[in-house]
Amino acid sequence: MTVGVVVPAAGAGTRLGAGRPKALHDLAGEPLLVHAVRQLRACPSIGPVVVAAPPADVAAVQALLPDALVVAGGAERQDSVAAGLAALPAEVDLVLVHDAARALVPVDVVEAVVAALRDGAQAVVPVLPVADTVKQVAADGTVVRTVPRADLRAVQTPQGFQRSVLEAAHRTSSGSLTDDAGLVEAAGVTVHTVAGSPLAFKVTTPFDLLVAEAVLRG
Ligand code: CTP
Ligand code: MG
Repeated sequence: MTVGVVVPAAGAGTRLGAGRPKALHDLAGEPLLVHAVRQLRACPSIGPVVVAAPPADVAAVQALLPDALVVAGGAERQDSVAAGLAALPAEVDLVLVHDAARALVPVDVVEAVVAALRDGAQAVVPVLPVADTVKQVAADGTVVRTVPRADLRAVQTPQGFQRSVLEAAHRTSSGSLTDDAGLVEAAGVTVHTVAGSPLAFKVTTPFDLLVAEAVLRG
């Protein structure tokens, strides 16, 4: 089984507010995307890596990552994943989709996702328990209800799929979801879970960047 990875890295980074694409933002001297791809490459089972880059930065990203195949991403995350999927070499049968913004994902999380796919799962996501109490809140700011926390999980990447399952879900889906497993769930596929890691957190805000810097400093 050949494992390929699609890395959506074409987002604007609006919440980080740095005025340029988040995947190219510096973390300890290197772009977030370079950290993320290094973590993926450190996994023995990983084969081809396709990066969906901001369209204006395709050449720059290709120069940063000579061993990856770099394509132009799209307006929504789902468009970027679709562009990456379309560029995956034919020999790939298991696909991971990993956010460039989850730059510090540990190797053992990646390997756990691959292992579940090799065991026959059609779709796999890394998850963490939710620490905060979660409430549904109405448009007027009042609480509608408290959601039972024991049943909830926060979902990370890499999310793993049998290639044919993810491709079929992309062909039939419309609208934009914030993750890929949502697409295959909608198609009725059972999505399995493995243990995620706090280190697989997504750099979204300036605070997250401070956390990532602190992690790298040890
Ligand atoms: N992404 C992408 N193409 C898009 C939007 C997002 O490839 N059109 C990627 C981002 O580069 C990131 C991942 O999807 O690696 C998760 O998205 P998010 O954290 O929302 O990143 P941004 O969209 O860049 O950030 P923001 O929503 O704050 O603008
Ligand atoms: Mg976004």
